[in-house]
Amino acid sequence: MTAVDPLRLATTEDPVPPRVRLRTEQPAPTIASRRSSGARIHEARPTVFDIRDMSVYYGPNRALMGTSFRIYRNLVTAVIGPSGCGKSTFIRTLNRMNDSIPGFRVTGQVLYHGHDVYGSAVNRVEVRRRIGMVFQKPNPFPKSIYDNVAWAPRNLGLRKDLDLRVERALQRAALWDEVKDRLRVSALSLSGGQQQRLCIARAIAVEPDVLLLDEPASALDPVSTAAIEDLMHSLKARYTIVIVTHNMQQAARVADRTAFFSLDRAERVGTLIEEDDTDTIFRNPRDTRTRDYVTGQFG
Ligand SMILES: Nc1ncnc2c1ncn2[C@@H]1O[C@H](COP(=O)(O)OP(=O)(O)OP(=O)(O)O)[C@@H](O)[C@H]1O
Ligand SMILES: [Mg+2]
Repeated sequence: MTAVDPLRLATTEDPVPPRVRLRTEQPAPTIASRRSSGARIHEARPTVFDIRDMSVYYGPNRALMGTSFRIYRNLVTAVIGPSGCGKSTFIRTLNRMNDSIPGFRVTGQVLYHGHDVYGSAVNRVEVRRRIGMVFQKPNPFPKSIYDNVAWAPRNLGLRKDLDLRVERALQRAALWDEVKDRLRVSALSLSGGQQQRLCIARAIAVEPDVLLLDEPASALDPVSTAAIEDLMHSLKARYTIVIVTHNMQQAARVADRTAFFSLDRAERVGTLIEEDDTDTIFRNPRDTRTRDYVTGQFG
């Protein structure tokens, strides 16, 4: 445990809240240089989540069992696997998004920068601020573009330099140039792809540490999907990203690390089969179930 609790509630107007600095000064090694050196992508990167033997229950039903792995800073980690294997359950467990579901229960540990996300002293509002989430279907509020992005900062009392904060979030979400002249129009007038980038801007307006994205492009056309994928590449310099996707090509394009979940044969419960550098998962996985899935022979 460090002396400073990273999950404490930020109550100041500090435009850069007291969080762990995320920028890595070193450029990421290229795939070619990694292969020739035998180095793994996550080596020397700090751990953001250390998930230890996590199981998740909805009432009497176990949705995920015995999940252990680490998620590293400033990388994109993709979560792939067949429908119903617990991908959404998994990422929603990382920021306590499942807490309101009756019967939801977690065993094991979810450590975030070494702190138990489910510890009794943890402030859930602060967990959600540090670990932002974007869903499959764009869900802007029926408010102006500006008010969507300003919503969370206002709720947290971060009113200082709000215009600047909104502009910065829209720029990082690669939406600013398209909306800067109509910030006061309804967010619902935007296209689906623009709405999804707005939701990303809304999530990053409070300077989170982690972005969780549950199939963020599955409802979008190919051009909007490509825009979201490009965004992943630029955002990871600043944030740690976990993305659920059904699209194998998308995982291969955007993710540094990939985790493959499936249903355990005997118990029919979601479980992590393996996780590794994306290149290894797609070209040289350890488990035949992973190989069958990524080569389209699943089922
Ligand atoms: N709110 C809930 N209440 C009860 N059971 C749930 C709830 N949400 C999910 N489950 C169950 O947990 C299991 C995993 O579901 P989850 O939605 O996490 O899978 P998924 O891998 O995200 O599937 P998909 O690819 O279809 O989105 C399923 O058996 C599902 O029925
Ligand atoms: Mg899902």
